[in-house]
Amino acid sequence: MIIRSTVYHRIPYRIPYRYVRLYSSSSSNPFPINDNNKRGKSNNNNNNNNKLSNWQKFINYTQSSKFEDKTMPKLYLSAIILALVPFYFYMRDRYYEDKQLKIMYKKKEENASSLTEYEYLALKSFNKNDKLKPLELKKYKLYQLMRKEFRRQNLFNSDAMFNPSPKDLDDWYSKQARKSSAPEKPSQLSLENDIKYLENEHNPKIQKSEDTTNFYDLKAKEYDDAVKWEERGIFMGSKRKWLMSHAKGDVLEISCGTGRNIPYFYPQQVKSITFIDSARNMVQICKDKFENSYPNFKKVAYAVGKGEDLTKLSSSNMKYDTIIEAFGLCCHKNPVQVLKNMSQLLKPGGRIVLLEHGRSNWEFINNHLDFRSEKRMAKWKCRWNLDIGELIDEAGLDIVKEKRAHLSTTWMMILKKPGDPINSDEKPFLDKLFGRDVNR
Ligand SMILES: C[S@@+](CC[C@H](N)C(=O)[O-])C[C@H]1O[C@@H](n2cnc3c(N)ncnc32)[C@H](O)[C@@H]1O
Repeated sequence: MIIRSTVYHRIPYRIPYRYVRLYSSSSSNPFPINDNNKRGKSNNNNNNNNKLSNWQKFINYTQSSKFEDKTMPKLYLSAIILALVPFYFYMRDRYYEDKQLKIMYKKKEENASSLTEYEYLALKSFNKNDKLKPLELKKYKLYQLMRKEFRRQNLFNSDAMFNPSPKDLDDWYSKQARKSSAPEKPSQLSLENDIKYLENEHNPKIQKSEDTTNFYDLKAKEYDDAVKWEERGIFMGSKRKWLMSHAKGDVLEISCGTGRNIPYFYPQQVKSITFIDSARNMVQICKDKFENSYPNFKKVAYAVGKGEDLTKLSSSNMKYDTIIEAFGLCCHKNPVQVLKNMSQLLKPGGRIVLLEHGRSNWEFINNHLDFRSEKRMAKWKCRWNLDIGELIDEAGLDIVKEKRAHLSTTWMMILKKPGDPINSDEKPFLDKLFGRDVNR
């Protein structure tokens, strides 16, 4: 007795109290600890669960086996079905597009003049040798919207085919095209009539053009310091390098400014170079820069004059292999005239290479450019929201290559006169590979 009592009394000091209590309270069960423990836990869980917020209960539920076994497969299945619905409509749209294209090709073969303008643009958009011009592309995009609208309206009518009459197209285009100064509706749809809908003319946010010569004459000394950090921030150097890498043979640079392209000049590929700008002080800085950098390059000329007067300024038989311009179109009084003059001064096979800034492909960027256009004009005499593609179309030039940067506000363009052939190094890689002729 004494011994047992001693043992009994020593136990509480060695084993934590709760085990002793559990052991003693369940004499009928040989292994009561776990059992009770479990019961205790589940009771606790229930109590705890009641205290949880709905959100926490939901999280607990997502971690339970019930969720994994029953709800999860249902969720997967619904997600797949949901994804399939738009996929079905997308594929159905492609199917109709393809079907319609076949009809258009047939129509073209039978009688090309019976094609509607939409059909003509649609076929041209698939023709690699005859790309859509910027204005045509704009128009085609508007017609594509019309097609989408038609599909939406006929979502459950699978037989309906988009086949608008010229009048439907006309109505849609007049409704959609921006025409804040309300030009009259064209009697016949053609590229010439589209001129009435030009963004550059009818968007009131685009400032009226001005002669900026005096402004840049006064700005000349501080110009480089004022723009250098902005240009470094957006790596404009690489774009200028691209521009100058295309300057070959006899080169004319219009709106040369202070000669910011000179650091990227490739003397080995240039026979002669002429710099021209309407601001005398800008030309002077450009001259100093070039003479410092290339003292041995003798075939260089400097001129003060306007791009609009180029054909009058240039001696009648002087023509160029490359005419380049950087950020000049936005500052000209008549940029289209300048482009037309450039085209006249090109040698056969010559190229115009532009590095310009203007409207973007993104509407939210354009809204910002439009919003700030007045301030930009006041600060830099620069119309930074111009549609450069429209200017090129208006001047009647062909686009050989187009690259866009900085959310597509920087336009890097290589242009040619319409009759000139495309060189082999300008052909797309696959055309070169298969020897396809892409001359227009
Ligand atoms: C924004 S600056 C660009 C200068 C330079 N090309 C550059 O990349 O830094 C515009 C330049 O165009 C010139 N300019 C403005 N109107 C012109 C015109 N009608 N003909 C030729 N140059 C003109 C200005 O004098 C100015 O030097």
